[in-house]
Amino acid sequence: MPLPAGRGAQVIHPRDCCVMSSSPASKLSDGASENRARRILDNLYTAVLSCDQGARVIMANPAAELLFGLSANHMLHRPLLELFGSDRLAFAPVAKALGSGQPVTAHGIRLTVAPDTPIIVDYTVTPLVRWNGVERLILELRRVDRFLRLAREETLVDSHTANRAVIRGLAHEIKNPLGGLRGAAQLLDRELPDRRQRDYTRIIIYEADRLRNLVDRMMGSRRPLRPKPVNIHQVLEHVRKLMLVEAREGLTIERDYDPSLPDLKGDREQLIQAVLNVVRNAVEAMDGRGRIRFRSRVERFLTIAQIPHRHVIRVDIEDNGPGIPVELQEQIFYPMVTQRAEGAGLGLAITQDIVAKHGGLIEFNSVPGCTCFSLYLPITEPV
Ligand SMILES: Nc1ncnc2c1ncn2[C@@H]1O[C@H](COP(=O)(O)OP(=O)(O)OP(=O)(O)O)[C@@H](O)[C@H]1O
Ligand SMILES: [Mg+2]
Repeated sequence: MPLPAGRGAQVIHPRDCCVMSSSPASKLSDGASENRARRILDNLYTAVLSCDQGARVIMANPAAELLFGLSANHMLHRPLLELFGSDRLAFAPVAKALGSGQPVTAHGIRLTVAPDTPIIVDYTVTPLVRWNGVERLILELRRVDRFLRLAREETLVDSHTANRAVIRGLAHEIKNPLGGLRGAAQLLDRELPDRRQRDYTRIIIYEADRLRNLVDRMMGSRRPLRPKPVNIHQVLEHVRKLMLVEAREGLTIERDYDPSLPDLKGDREQLIQAVLNVVRNAVEAMDGRGRIRFRSRVERFLTIAQIPHRHVIRVDIEDNGPGIPVELQEQIFYPMVTQRAEGAGLGLAITQDIVAKHGGLIEFNSVPGCTCFSLYLPITEPV
């Protein structure tokens, strides 16, 4: 697959930047203005394409390269229809704008981009008209599926926050009588003369301890965050080493890190716990044998829990295990939801709690052969 060129690729021609201006008076003619226009295009979050009257691409900005997963060089001179996966339905608004000479906005358009990835976009196509008809087309595309998915996740986070408050209250109520129960069993244990009878009191003490541990885990860490600059790669490397020591042969953990990521402000120990829970699940699901991949990237302009952030770190933990059963997927972050006989069903609830305390979000996608959990952790103050 051709790789997208980096930001500032030279294939954005200044003449196309001129096309961006709406009035002839504001045409950017001198070099400085052209550079300025190019810089603006380079830094736009919106994908922008310019096409000739035959709907062939003549300009693509870096955001368009990212959206289509193609370098601008690969898009240049290609028919837009082809770029849209030859999907006539997706292309219809362009045809309409070409025919009418009027701008058209389309919502929820499904496109398949490289490499075979379905995405949903909103796009506006604006024809630039001269006396002899449409001269050029400007397309502004915005990917919306990610936002739809994140919005759904946010609703989940809200309901989980409420659930966790109930669980914490309940857990508190269980712990008090449990302490009394254990104390009484201990006293009885000392009084009982018969060894066989003491076996029963020990079972009471053992089970009371087990229940207390479970309740403690359910309540999650009540230790406040101790935020310090944390390098997320150090967190991932720590977990990686730990898992490789624990695991049998046959487990590989690959790394695909963006080395330019800055530190985030967080609690290293708790972040290790959050990542470890996800990785452990992957190892358990694969029965200790398989491939896990850690990926780190930066996401720009992401809104989490209604707070917009300029930069957010995304950590993907991907495995090639059997996948999460569809019927479990909706409840996966709820406490006590488990498929494992020895599982408490608390790992993901705890991870979600920790990520939320860092102002972040966790989501996942799972099909047999590929499960990917993504942790979004803000690195900058809200914008
Ligand atoms: N990568 C994965 N692949 C397949 N199933 C998964 C994966 N991650 C989680 N699951 C499913 O989600 C369930 C819930 O996970 P969670 O970590 O919350 O609890 P648990 O692992 O069962 O128990 P605990 O973590 O408390 O020991 C698991 O039992 C498993 O069925
Ligand atoms: Mg688990």
